[in-house]
Amino acid sequence: MSARTASVGPVTGDSEQVIETRGLTKHYGQVHALTDLDIEVGGGVTGLVGANGAGKSTLIKILLGLLEPTSGSARVLGHDIATEGEEIRRFVGYMPEHDCLPPDVSASEFVVHMARMSGLGASAARERSADVLRHVGLEEERYRPMGGYSTGMKQRAKLAQGLVHDPRLVFLDEPTNGLDPAARADMLRLVRRIGSDFGIAVLVTSHLLGELEQVSDHVVVLDAGHLLRSSATGDFLERTGSLLVEVVGGTTERDRFGEALAAAGLTCRPRGTAIAVEPAPDGLSVHDLVRDTAADLGLGLMRLQPDRRHLEDVFLDDAPAAAAGGSRG
Ligand SMILES: Nc1ncnc2c1ncn2[C@@H]1O[C@H](COP(=O)(O)OP(=O)(O)O)[C@@H](O)[C@H]1O
Ligand SMILES: [Mg+2]
Repeated sequence: MSARTASVGPVTGDSEQVIETRGLTKHYGQVHALTDLDIEVGGGVTGLVGANGAGKSTLIKILLGLLEPTSGSARVLGHDIATEGEEIRRFVGYMPEHDCLPPDVSASEFVVHMARMSGLGASAARERSADVLRHVGLEEERYRPMGGYSTGMKQRAKLAQGLVHDPRLVFLDEPTNGLDPAARADMLRLVRRIGSDFGIAVLVTSHLLGELEQVSDHVVVLDAGHLLRSSATGDFLERTGSLLVEVVGGTTERDRFGEALAAAGLTCRPRGTAIAVEPAPDGLSVHDLVRDTAADLGLGLMRLQPDRRHLEDVFLDDAPAAAAGGSRG
C-alpha cells in the first residue's frame, strides 16, 4: 500500500474532482431519501455527516452503482455512475455499514478471496492481503474464523477487504459504529492514515460530528436528504477569539484558577478540564494575566491556546432541528 505513485490509471491529484453529483435524487416509494443534491468532493478525507436516516448510505450505494438514482447524475473519479459502473468499482473500495463477514471463514481467507474476485492472481492476492491486514492491525488473529471476532476486529476485516485491490477512493460507511472509545480512536487514526499515508481519497460517514472533525479535510452535512453544508473543516472551526487555558490538577485546581482569573477582571467559564477565557477589556493582556495568576497560585500551566468552535456548535447553529446523532430513520 505504500507505492501509491505507481497506481494504475490516471493519478488523482488532491485538486481533482473525486465525486461530483448534479441534482441527485432518490425516492424509495414515498420516502425521499435524497433531494436534488449538488456535491463536489476532492481528494483527502471527506466526512459525510448526518443523523440516522439522513441518506448517507443511500448516497454511497448510488455512487457505487449498486442503486439507481430516481433522477440526477453523478461522476466518481471522472466516471459516469450510469454507464461506467465497472470502472468505478475497479478503482473504488467499499466498507459497508452492516456486517457482511462469513463467520466460519478467517479474515485471511476472506480478504484473499475478495482480492481474487477483483482480478488479482493467487500470489499477488496473498501478498496484498497480508499487507493490508497488517496495516489495519489484524495480524495474529487473521487465521481465526471471523465469527469469534470482536466488533473492532470485524470492522478491521471489513476495512481490509475494501482496500485490498489498491483503490484510489474508498467509501467507509460508519466505520466506528459499535466500537468502544479506545477502538473508535484506533479506527479514526486508521482512517486518517488511509488518506494521508496511502494517498487514497476517503469518504467516511458518521452520525457523530465530533469524530469526523478530527480526521476530515472536508465535511459534507446531510439533513433528511438535503445538503446542509459542504466546506473545508477549517472553515467550520473559526476561532472564537477566546483563549483556552488549563492547569495541572483536577476540577479543584481548575475552579481555584477560574475564580482567581475572574477576580483579576477576566470573564471565563469552565470548558471540560480547561477554562475558556474571553478577550480582555482594553489595556489588559490575557496572556500576562493568565501566566501571573497561575504563578501566584503556584499552579502549573499546561495549556494556553486559541479556542475554536467545534463542528457540533456550527451544526447546532445551522440546523437546530437536526441535532447531532438523533435517530429519525
Ligand atoms: N431499501 C429501502 N427501502 C425504503 N426506504 C429506505 C431503504 N433504504 C433506506 N431507506 C430510507 O431512506 C432514508 C435514508 O436512509 P439511509 O440512506 O440508510 O440513511 P443513513 O445512512 O444516513 O442512516 C431513511 O428514511 C431510510 O429509512
Ligand atoms: Mg447508513
